[in-house]
Amino acid sequence: MRAAVFPEAGRFRGRAAPSFPQPLDSPWMGAVLMRGADLAQRIRADVAREAEELGGTCLATVLVGDDPASHVYVTRKHEAAEAAGIESRDHRLPASTPEEDVLALVDELNEDDGVDGILVQLPLPPGMDEARVTESVLPVKDVDGFHPVNQGHLLLDKPLHVPATAAGCMELLREHGVPLEGQEAVVVGRSQIVGKPVSLLLLAANATVTICHSRTTDLAAQTRRADVLVAAVGRPGLITPAMVKPGAAVVDVGITRAEHGLVGDVDAQVAEVAGWLTPVPGGVGPMTIAMLLRSTLLAARFRRGLLAFPAA
Ligand code: GUN
Repeated sequence: MRAAVFPEAGRFRGRAAPSFPQPLDSPWMGAVLMRGADLAQRIRADVAREAEELGGTCLATVLVGDDPASHVYVTRKHEAAEAAGIESRDHRLPASTPEEDVLALVDELNEDDGVDGILVQLPLPPGMDEARVTESVLPVKDVDGFHPVNQGHLLLDKPLHVPATAAGCMELLREHGVPLEGQEAVVVGRSQIVGKPVSLLLLAANATVTICHSRTTDLAAQTRRADVLVAAVGRPGLITPAMVKPGAAVVDVGITRAEHGLVGDVDAQVAEVAGWLTPVPGGVGPMTIAMLLRSTLLAARFRRGLLAFPAA
């Protein structure tokens, strides 16, 4: 049945990760799941060891407004930081807070020598100038990698702080031995947080990169060419099996809260045609927090002069 629908799928079994050997004469078993939870746990354990060596590391977060998902995410970030031995400072402000007060708080954190990394959770409340606020974070403390200085360094192939979700996607692909060099990579979504940075990271890994977005005329024609497909849009089920090249590595970044739980941009049936697939939940999600913690240690090293942070 599967073979009839996706007759080419079985030809790509040889690309399965070494830990999941797929005998060539066995029936197609579906995609290797690129689970983020185990890898994230390992990274967090490494971070904890390094944080102990460095001593006195600190991450400060700023959350403005009542977005319930943002509150959950920020709470998880604090729990993860504390578990790794990184002090965390949690600033939650009402949605009515004037923009100038948010900027004043960020300034205070910029000046505070006890703070290594600063994260302003997005989205900010409607009417607040997101670019102005994120640009107010000192680049060396910008663990999100959203400041133009950090985005510019990524563009110049000299990454400093890199957006955590994009970095997490790359770690998952690397961990599973997914070939990137010379491969066709298609990224659906052009956000500053994921789409653009992951495109640049794939390009730096020598993939041939196409970025698709809401004005792309024939999305399926693009995605079907992809050896590596990253979906980062936030539209549940946007990517159907017919849009995926058999054997492709599919990274599902989209997370939408539905009645029955979290759903990604990728239809679950894609597991029957892809070679690798990140599950939702448990794929990219856990990686974001792990990479944020790693970025906090990087900030600590920059600030202690253990690594050079170029002058802006
Ligand atoms: N909102 C959704 N993802 C992120 C993220 O990675 N960082 C921040 N600051 N806000 C977000």
